[in-house]
Amino acid sequence: MSFVDRLLLQMTLEEKIGQLNLVSYGKVDTGTVRSVGVAKKIAAAQAGGLFGTHDPAEARAMQTIAVEQTRLGIPLLFGLDVIHGHKTIFPIPLALSCSWNLELIRKTARIAAIEATAEGVNWAFSPMVDIARDPRWGRVSEGAGEDTYLGSQVARAMVEGLQGDDLKRNDTMMACVKHLGLYGAVEAGREYNSVDMSPVRMLEDYLPPYKAALDAGAGSVMTAFNDINGVPATAHPEILNDLLRKRWSFDGLVVTDYTAINEMVEHGMGDLHDVSAVALNAGVDMDMVGEGFLETLQQSLDAGHISETQIDMACRRILLAKEKLGLFDDPYLYFSDERAKSRILTPEHRAFARETIAESCVLLKNDGNILPLDRSAKIALVGPLADDTLNMPGNWSIAADSDDCISIRQGMRNVAGPDARIAYARGSNITDDPRVIAAVNYRIERVVNDPRPAVDMIDEALRIAKDADVVVAVVGEAQEMSGECASRADIGIPEEQRDLLQALRKTGKPLVLVTISGRPLTLAWEHENADAILHMWFAGTEAGNGVADVLFGGANPSGKLTMTFPRHVGQVPIYYNHRRTGRPLSPGLEFEKFKSCYIDVPNTPQYPFGHGLSYTSFEYGPVELDKTSLNGERDVLHARATVTNTGAKTGKEIVQLYLTDPVASMTRPVKVLRGFEKIELAPGQSQQVGFTITVGDLKFYDLSGAEIWESGEFIVHIGASSVSTQSASVIWAKDASEERAVAAKSASGAA
Ligand code: NOJ
Repeated sequence: MSFVDRLLLQMTLEEKIGQLNLVSYGKVDTGTVRSVGVAKKIAAAQAGGLFGTHDPAEARAMQTIAVEQTRLGIPLLFGLDVIHGHKTIFPIPLALSCSWNLELIRKTARIAAIEATAEGVNWAFSPMVDIARDPRWGRVSEGAGEDTYLGSQVARAMVEGLQGDDLKRNDTMMACVKHLGLYGAVEAGREYNSVDMSPVRMLEDYLPPYKAALDAGAGSVMTAFNDINGVPATAHPEILNDLLRKRWSFDGLVVTDYTAINEMVEHGMGDLHDVSAVALNAGVDMDMVGEGFLETLQQSLDAGHISETQIDMACRRILLAKEKLGLFDDPYLYFSDERAKSRILTPEHRAFARETIAESCVLLKNDGNILPLDRSAKIALVGPLADDTLNMPGNWSIAADSDDCISIRQGMRNVAGPDARIAYARGSNITDDPRVIAAVNYRIERVVNDPRPAVDMIDEALRIAKDADVVVAVVGEAQEMSGECASRADIGIPEEQRDLLQALRKTGKPLVLVTISGRPLTLAWEHENADAILHMWFAGTEAGNGVADVLFGGANPSGKLTMTFPRHVGQVPIYYNHRRTGRPLSPGLEFEKFKSCYIDVPNTPQYPFGHGLSYTSFEYGPVELDKTSLNGERDVLHARATVTNTGAKTGKEIVQLYLTDPVASMTRPVKVLRGFEKIELAPGQSQQVGFTITVGDLKFYDLSGAEIWESGEFIVHIGASSVSTQSASVIWAKDASEERAVAAKSASGAA
């Protein structure tokens, strides 16, 4: 009999139910309820884990209570939202995904784990893998954007980085993939709203990243707040039991989101007894903060609504997670004063954080190669985020200290040197809207407003602009304008900052924008009026240095968008791999009567998925395929294209492979990403980039939920973005006779 089974046999029912309770220290409360009497509950064996602290002394004290004051001495799990670094903060996850550099992402997660475990945390509520196509939803900042294929790869890299290859090491931690499921599809981008989705879309677009994280070994899963097709995700039998436990064979720990069980009462699913019982029955193991399990499971058992076997199963999975982390061998494994001193915010971690910025920021436009800046130019640096450290980390950076962050102003001075002529004026507040300020300053005051009248601030900015060769304006969102409960109906640059930009434009000076946000923004005016736009997202501890490296050309930007930037908020949801309509617009047109379009804006986005410029230029040769026709499941297709750096600087290019299935038994997306490679080329250098395509890449789900593929012609695209590709077509059939039939049809032009 295993250690955990023996332990279970010794446990009373109360002790088992106690393990299912996750308490919080309330420092990261993300709801109106807080855990109370935490130490007492731990002493009474009424908690299986604690989250919200990264204070090793505090955590150690709690672990001591669990180990020494309870009958069985079962150690606690220590959870925390370790999302994009711990003390050394990396760019937000959406930014990191724009690097398309999986090794880099893996390393950020690895460093996050090294630092967080040095402060006693052994369970990361990360990665968030929710596919998101609506930038009004503030939490798009926490994920990898809109694409399933890329999102799945990023999910895997994050889990590998956090968990390493041995969870028992004191510098690896258990990952928690979240939020199962489909949280990224909340209606109208409004936080905590409903999700209603077809099974095909779920299977094809939204579920694969969760699966990819689990295939990479993620030890735990967090349920989502939203309902799915009328049933809350936290008690969704089809998602939790049928899909997660049975189809995906997941035997790890399932924890709810913050008070998600209790919230089912508000969803209208019954009282606390009812909802706690259905959550357990659906496959939830651990209840975050709400204590519905603690308060009601005993009675539900007596009433026959749940069984003791279910409680045992949930408890067993929690104990197994502790065993996997090595906590039964040493409950204090993760506490080390020495590691806390020597492995946090090290020069190496900071240097790496700085490097990640050039790979994650996206050069959206750069007319006349105005960037990089000349170090000897007279620069007017303006904007409410130019001299800011409070907002640099980005949301979910619990352990960050903004004093450790480098502002853009400081970074530009560091990089350009003491002789640089950089004049600074704030120019405007981030926002003067009291409603928004109240919402975003909820926990920490990060929008700290200058009391001067707006016109005075603009005048001051204009004075230095008139005297400068170039204006660099750092504008965008405050940290908490994206993230949890930060949905925005207007996703543009706030009005006060837009007023500043409009005044600056009138000076006629070259205008470079550095834009900061946790979501795609609508930048139609900015695109028309600025000479260059460098979108830096929230770039973390080394923000200023990393961005200055790019601004002055010490580093060449190489990020490409993983989420479409709309022209207008009315276009959302907008994403590159939309399905084909029966009335598509003719290519090149913006409006046609009785075609799928708007009368007031084009269908196309401002900046498409996969877009991102460099200080050099790349040219793509034609797509070459090693076969024109294939048959059977085992055949593979090799596609390649030669990419040449035709500019004057060394640069990194993200080569993207997309497939189109022009004729099928279901409407298929116009294009789907099926591969990518990031390469680095010196000026004049060429490289052949090859991809192997298998039948798996052609598959899709039919109405019965079966994964199928069909004989036919397929188009292979290789290029620099979702709208800039070259293509070649191929026939791929189930067998030789279907191959002949498709070929004949295609020869007659009917395929
Ligand atoms: C609520 C968030 O939805 C979730 O992502 C997070 O992990 C928990 N709060 C804990 O902080």
